[in-house]
Amino acid sequence: VKKIGILTGGGDCPGLNAVIRAVTKAAIANYGYEVIGYKFGYRGLYNNDFIKLDARSVSGILHKGGTILYSSNKDNLFDYQVEENGQCVKKDVSDVAVENMKKEGVDVLVVLGGDGTLTSARDFARKGVNVIGVPKTIDNDLSKTDVTFGFNSAVDVVVDALDKLHTTAESHHRIMILEVMGRNAGWIALHAGIAGSADVILIPEIPFSLDAIVAKMNERSQRGLPFSIIVVSEGAMEKGGELTVQKIVNDSPDPVRLGGIGNKLALALEARISDHEIRNTVLGHLQRGGITSAYDRLLSTRYGVAAVELIAQGKFGSMVALQDGKMTDASLEAVIGKNKQVDVDSELIHVAKSLGVSFGE
Ligand code: F6P
Repeated sequence: VKKIGILTGGGDCPGLNAVIRAVTKAAIANYGYEVIGYKFGYRGLYNNDFIKLDARSVSGILHKGGTILYSSNKDNLFDYQVEENGQCVKKDVSDVAVENMKKEGVDVLVVLGGDGTLTSARDFARKGVNVIGVPKTIDNDLSKTDVTFGFNSAVDVVVDALDKLHTTAESHHRIMILEVMGRNAGWIALHAGIAGSADVILIPEIPFSLDAIVAKMNERSQRGLPFSIIVVSEGAMEKGGELTVQKIVNDSPDPVRLGGIGNKLALALEARISDHEIRNTVLGHLQRGGITSAYDRLLSTRYGVAAVELIAQGKFGSMVALQDGKMTDASLEAVIGKNKQVDVDSELIHVAKSLGVSFGE
C-alpha cells in the first residue's frame, strides 16, 4: 500500500473530522502512506475531485463538527444519476471510480459512513477494491459495533435541550414534547431520555398508546408534578394506530423536514388533556451540528488509528468496530442492512422503567 483515499458520505455528524485527522496522521507517521481526501463523498470519487491530506491540513480540526471533505447524501455510484443525450438516466458508474483510483495510484479507500454509504463500500469491496469502513451515524443503528461515532455528541445536544425544556415546563405547568432523530431506532431517545430525566420516552421498538401517555400525565399531576417531558423518536408509532410518520421515515430522504411525529402527538394529546398546555419542539439538525463531544473525539481517533492498522494488516472489506470496549473489526458483509434497534429487554430499558419512565405501553 502506498496511497489511501478517504471519503465521508451520507449525513454529516460530529467526529468525521476527528477520524480524518487520525487516519491521516497515523497513516503518514506509522507507515509512510500518502493520503488524499475525496470531496463530497462518492461524488468526488466519480469526478476525481480530491485534496491532498497531511499533518498540516488536518491540524486544528479534531473538535469541529461537519466534515472538511464535505459530504453528499444518497450518492450511489452503482445507481448514479448522469446526463446522457440531454436526458437524466441512472446507471452504474462504479468503473469510473475504480479507474480514477488507479489513475491516482490509490490502493485503499477508507469510507466513513452509515448503512447507505457502507453498502456502497461493500459493493466496491465485491468489485475487488480494497475498502475499510468506519461506522458513522448519530442514530447508532449499525450492527457489529457497540457504538457509532457521532451518537454521543447528538445525545449531549438532546440532553442539553431537555434540561432547558424542564425549567420552562415547570414554570408553566406544561407538557413539553421533544422530537429527536434516530430513523427506525430509538437509541438517541432512550439514552438522552434517561440522562435528561424524561417522563415518557417513545421509541420505534415499543409502539405506544395515547391512553398510557395520558395516564402517566394524570399520575404525575396527582403526585403534585403538574408538568411533564416527553421525548419522542422520529420513527416512533402508535400501537396499531394512525399516529406515525414511519412511512415518511422509510421513504423520504428528508423525514425531519417533512416531520413529524411530535407535532401529531401534541395535537392528539391536546384533544385529550385539558388542564395542561402542550408544546412541541423538533430538535432536527441541531443534533448533528456543533462541536464533537470528548467521548466522540476519543472514539473517532481510536477508529481512525484502527482503520490504518487494518490497512497495514491487509484486512480489506471490513469495518472497524468497538465490541465490549475493545477495538476490533467486522466484515462489511455482516454489517450491512441490519438496522440495529434497541433490545426491549435490555438493561437500559429496565433502568428507565425502574425510575418510573413510561414507554407509553
Ligand atoms: O441518519 C442520520 C439522520 O440525521 C437521521 O437521524 C435523520 O432521520 C436523517 O439523517 C435526516 O436526513 P437529512 O440530513 O437528509 O435531513
